Amino acid sequence: MNASQSSPQQEGGVAAEKLIDAFGRVHTDLRVSVTDRCNIRCRYCMPLDVTFKPREELLSFEEIERVVAVAAELGVRSIRLTGGEPLVRRDLHRLIERLLAVAGIDEVALTSNGLLLKQQAADLAAAGLSRINVSLDSLREETFRELARSDGLSQVLAGLAEAKRVGLNQIRLNAVSIRGLTEQDIVPLARFAREQGFHLRFIEFMPLDADQRWSQPQVLSGSDVRAVLEEAVGPLQPVAGNDPGQPAVDYRYADMPADTAGSLVGFIDPVTQPFCQRCDRLRLTADGQFRNCLFSTEEWDARQLLRDGCEDRALAELMQACVKAKREAHGIGTPSFTRPGRAMYEIGG
Ligand code: GTP
Ligand code: 5AD
Ligand code: SF4
Repeated sequence: MNASQSSPQQEGGVAAEKLIDAFGRVHTDLRVSVTDRCNIRCRYCMPLDVTFKPREELLSFEEIERVVAVAAELGVRSIRLTGGEPLVRRDLHRLIERLLAVAGIDEVALTSNGLLLKQQAADLAAAGLSRINVSLDSLREETFRELARSDGLSQVLAGLAEAKRVGLNQIRLNAVSIRGLTEQDIVPLARFAREQGFHLRFIEFMPLDADQRWSQPQVLSGSDVRAVLEEAVGPLQPVAGNDPGQPAVDYRYADMPADTAGSLVGFIDPVTQPFCQRCDRLRLTADGQFRNCLFSTEEWDARQLLRDGCEDRALAELMQACVKAKREAHGIGTPSFTRPGRAMYEIGG
C-alpha cells in the first residue's frame, strides 16, 4: 500500500488515531509518575505509615520512554513527571533528556516538593527541563511541619533560589488551601511570589488524601482565597486567553506591569469550579497503569503488556481504550461520587 492509500490507522506503525474521548476532548498531555516514594508525608496525600512498591514493580526508564514514544504518535505533546516525589528517583535528569528526544514531544515538565531541588537544579536545567512546579503551602515552619509532617521549608526555599540561579525560569508554586489550616498563609505566600517572580497557584483540597480525612467544609475555595488577595495584596484582573490546557484560571495583579514575573496568580478549583470539560490529560502511574482521570476507579495495565513483549500497536490500543472510557466529569459532591482506590501519591497528582 502506498502512502496515499494508507489508512490513518496504519500511520507510524501504530493505530495513529488521536486520543479523543466520547465527549470530544483531545488528549495531548501525559502525566507520568516515576515513583510512589516521597521524602515527606503531606497529610493531604500520603499516610504517615506507608509501604512503598518494590522497585521491580515500577516502570524502568526504557519502559517509560517506550510508552511516551507511542503516546507521541497518538498526539501527546507534553509530558509532566510526577511522584510521589520524582526527584527521589535516581538520575531523573537522564529520563528528561531521553523523553525530550522522543519525536513529537515538545516539552517535559516536572512537579516536585522541592526538597532535593538545590542539589539537582543544575542537572535538570542542563537536561532541558521545560518547566517546574514546586509545592509550597506555607512559609511558616510550624504550618509546613503540620502539613508535611516533616521539616523541609528551608530546603524548599534553597531549592527555589537555586532553580532560578541556574536559569529554570518557568517556575510555578503550588499551594494547597485547607480551611482551618492555611488561611494565614495566603497573603505571605502571595507577597513572596510577587517579590520573587514566581507564578503562584492556589489549589483546592481534593478527596485524594490517603488518610481519608477530606471533607467538604475543609475546602477553602479559590474564590475565597481571591477575595483575601484583593483585600490585602492588590486588585486582580482575569487574564484573557488563559491557556485552556492548564487547570488553573489565572489573574494578574493590576498594580504590576504585565509581563513582570510574579504578576500572575492562578486558581486551581477542581471542587468548586470543575474544569473536566477542558481536560486534556491522561495519567500513567509509577507501576505502569493508565488512568483517564485523577478520580478514575479503573486502570489499564501497560506494564503487563510491556513485560509480555507487546507490539506498539497493543500499547496504542490500550491508551485508546482508556481514553474512550473517560467519564464526563469527576462528580465530587454528587451522590454517585466514589473515591478512587488509590491516593494522590500512588496516582501522581
Ligand atoms: P501546568 O498547569 O501545566 O503548570 O501543570 P499542572 O497545574 O497541571 O500540574 P501540577 O502537577 O502542578 O498540578 C497542580 C494541581 O492541579 C495538583 O493538585 C493536581 O493534582 C491538580 N491537577 C492537575 N491536573 C488535574 C486534573 O486533570 N484534574 C484535577 N482534578 N486536578 C488536576
Ligand atoms: N488536593 C489537592 N492538591 C493536592 N496535592 C497533593 N494532594 C492533594 C490533594 N489532596 C498537590 C500537591 C502537589 C500536586 C502534585 O498535587 O501539593 O503540588
Ligand atoms: Fe509527597 Fe507530594 Fe504527596 Fe506531599 S503531595 S506527600 S510532597 S507526593
